[in-house]
Amino acid sequence: MSEAAETAPILVATGITAGYDGPPILDGVGVETYPGKISVILGPNGAGKSTLAKAIMGLINVSQGEVRLRGEVVTHTPPHQLVRKGVGYLPQMLNIFDELSVLENLHMGAYSFKGDVAQRLDRVFSLFPDLAADKRKQAGQLSGGQQRMVALARLLMTDPVVAILDEPTAGLSPIYGDRVWNQITEVAATGVAMLIVEQNASVAMEYADQCFILADGRNVLSGPARELAGRDEVAQILVG
Ligand SMILES: Nc1ncnc2c1ncn2[C@@H]1O[C@H](COP(=O)(O)OP(=O)(O)OP(=O)(O)O)[C@@H](O)[C@H]1O
Ligand SMILES: [Mg+2]
Repeated sequence: MSEAAETAPILVATGITAGYDGPPILDGVGVETYPGKISVILGPNGAGKSTLAKAIMGLINVSQGEVRLRGEVVTHTPPHQLVRKGVGYLPQMLNIFDELSVLENLHMGAYSFKGDVAQRLDRVFSLFPDLAADKRKQAGQLSGGQQRMVALARLLMTDPVVAILDEPTAGLSPIYGDRVWNQITEVAATGVAMLIVEQNASVAMEYADQCFILADGRNVLSGPARELAGRDEVAQILVG
């Protein structure tokens, strides 16, 4: 039994068939997340990784299959309700409020949070000490890597149990990419189930627990990262 399989998965998608107008993009795709673990979705450009994230988040129509959160069927649940149920999502295109300060961005993230916002802020700043130092700065004036941190920190203000991040390191230098991955690891260590879409398979596999490799809208290979890392067939699938 793998390490991840020892705890029950928290968010499970099975047999997802979904797409946009026209023929489905995803054909019976599945993915699982575990509390405190990092699951990554890998695959060549156009494989359907972002489409899977959107299908889970209720942003596009799912024609077959189901999504369960703690055993409860949440397929077709609108995104804002999923957020309330504890599923956070960072879309592929970075979305922060450039004109607002770091602190204001974080307060925006907490608008639906029912708990003690000041306490939540302390917790998020302890995970992101750099942001605490820059909290009065305008978010648009930070570097690309810091802006990713703001987006991740803002998501954490909702106190998610599952966080779905679509290419959180896209466009970052390797150093900043590693910093973001270290933050992802720290967030996972707080018990959040992380589901990360990533382009760079070798970097992702250093940090991931479980991997789900998609190609052409289907699952082609899944398993513990440490078993898949370095396998020739993985590299072949990922070049498309
Ligand atoms: N809004 C959309 N409307 C119609 N088709 C779309 C839309 N978004 C994506 N697609 C199509 O769905 C397929 C999968 O795209 P998707 O964005 O899920 O791939 P991806 O694996 O995330 O790729 P990338 O690595 O480039 O981000 C592609 O053929 C794409 O053209
Ligand atoms: Mg994508």
